[in-house]
Amino acid sequence: MTVDLVYPPGATPLDPDERAGLIPGHIATQGELNEWEQLNIVQGENWARKQRKEILNEGFQRQLHQQLFGETWKWAGEFRKSDKNIGVDWLKIGVELKKLLDDTRYQIEHASYPSDEIAVRFHHRLVAIHPFPNGNGRHARLMADLLVERLGQPRFTWGSRSLVDAGDTRKRYIAALQAADARDMTPLQAFARS
Ligand SMILES: Nc1ncnc2c1ncn2[C@@H]1O[C@H](COP(=O)(O)OP(=O)(O)OP(=O)(O)O)[C@@H](O)[C@H]1O
Ligand SMILES: [Mg+2]
Repeated sequence: MTVDLVYPPGATPLDPDERAGLIPGHIATQGELNEWEQLNIVQGENWARKQRKEILNEGFQRQLHQQLFGETWKWAGEFRKSDKNIGVDWLKIGVELKKLLDDTRYQIEHASYPSDEIAVRFHHRLVAIHPFPNGNGRHARLMADLLVERLGQPRFTWGSRSLVDAGDTRKRYIAALQAADARDMTPLQAFARS
């Protein structure tokens, strides 16, 4: 069955072979897919918050994606194998991710920035790498939450509204990511705590 997917601005469209990896056979609409994904994500978040292991390694990034999307997409937990409009060259995902994880561990060890800023910088670089075919935004927001919680702060609120719809909140989020591209981290930090 083919599902017509409607993407909000700043969402990465899927390749046909990535679409073919949809696990539940009964899904016919975007609304049903969103609902199914959301159930899967809630389970994944519960799993994530029970973990006590180290999170700043490649294995955990993949495992978390698998837990969030593993009942939805066959390729959950696997890195992209093609280029997208956002993200690094797919062949460089592993190296770029390792640099990010190493840098973040260093920043924590040396308290290079306040905890919120370390987590927000991590979020920005992780979505810029865009390791997975889909689910990068949700994965990277949860990763930033887990990270900031481990640094002793409450999780972020990310605009306090659903980012799935193409509303004002999503516009503010994308604009804040673009400011971060231009090295201004303030809007993204403000957004994450709004
Ligand atoms: N112009 C942009 N500059 C930087 N990052 C962007 C831009 N547009 C989108 N992004 C990031 O990419 C994410 C979308 O990627 P993807 O579709 O893989 O994630 P998702 O979890 O399915 O999306 P969603 O944000 O709808 O939950 C956005 O959430 C945002 O983090
Ligand atoms: Mg998406």
